Amino acid sequence: MPDTPTLRLPADEAGIARAAELLRAGELVAFPTETVYGLGADARNDAAVAGIYEAKGRPSFNPLIVHVPSIEHAKELVEWSGTAENVARAFWPGPLTLVLPIRWDAGLSDRVTAGLDTLAVRLPAAPLARELLTAFGGPLAGPSANRSGRISPTTADHVLSTLDGRIAAVLDGGPCKVGLESTILGLSGRPTLLRPGGISAEQLSEALGHPVMRRQDNAAISAPGQTASHYAPRARMRLNAAEWREGEARLGFGDMECDLNLSPSGDLEEAAANLFAHLHLLDASGAKIIAVAPVPHFGAGVAINDRLSRAAAPR
Ligand code: TXA
Ligand code: MG
Repeated sequence: MPDTPTLRLPADEAGIARAAELLRAGELVAFPTETVYGLGADARNDAAVAGIYEAKGRPSFNPLIVHVPSIEHAKELVEWSGTAENVARAFWPGPLTLVLPIRWDAGLSDRVTAGLDTLAVRLPAAPLARELLTAFGGPLAGPSANRSGRISPTTADHVLSTLDGRIAAVLDGGPCKVGLESTILGLSGRPTLLRPGGISAEQLSEALGHPVMRRQDNAAISAPGQTASHYAPRARMRLNAAEWREGEARLGFGDMECDLNLSPSGDLEEAAANLFAHLHLLDASGAKIIAVAPVPHFGAGVAINDRLSRAAAPR
């Protein structure tokens, strides 16, 4: 792994052109999407994709999401379906990833799918991500741009905090708007919610015309990366804190006294956008325990509670 410092590229035409050029040369470039920063590599280039696993310290059995510049590109990679068309029309570009059977002629590195016969594809909405994908002109493998098991990055500084010197560049587009990773919908069998995210189960069910299955109801299908412990800060986490205790870092929600507040007005979308950045800050404060106020379990709150319980899981 070369230990040259990672370039920070500006979010302008020259920065995008340089990022696309590095990607074409098989280098790793982190880029902002509306959810979190992704660690991009040419999904057709075996060595580049291997580099993602090495830079992240990611287990090789955990497959990657591929980002595409258009629906047409997605159709070249996966066996498209009427259901895929419906949900893509409703939510793309946006924070939704679809898992579909991979086409035999997709032309991707086998490492992308880690040997599965399905592929996770996503058309992101963030303008900078779309401009980069268009400039690059092909499929970009892109897991979250953090060392494996650590908190996902929502700023270029977060990316550099764990990957500086391990990747060629980061395209700095400022903070991500949604702040939580995409919702993952499995469409290779019965539509199944594999990971809660920015698009809620209720929204998906409405577009599908029937209730989406939850992963726990369909254990045969799973997102291999959905292990209990994930997004782990160094500090221990105490969730649903009804009161604050001496010496804890206090992460609040709603109108209350605390060290950092996910949303003083109790807005779940705002809380989602702040979650990872606040965890990064409280963790950096050196506190041994981060206590978190209760967050309601509806709308974006489902995905927030999912990430909090993974951050709190025994390691
Ligand atoms: O918002 C996002 O989805 C971000 C941005 C960068 O796009 N990406 C992201 O990637 O969160 P990552 O690698 O951190 O999470 C991808 C998840 C993993 O849990 C992985 O196991 C699952 O997607 N996955 C990938 N391919 C899959 C497949 N074929 N079937 C089921 N799960 C899959
Ligand atoms: Mg991740």
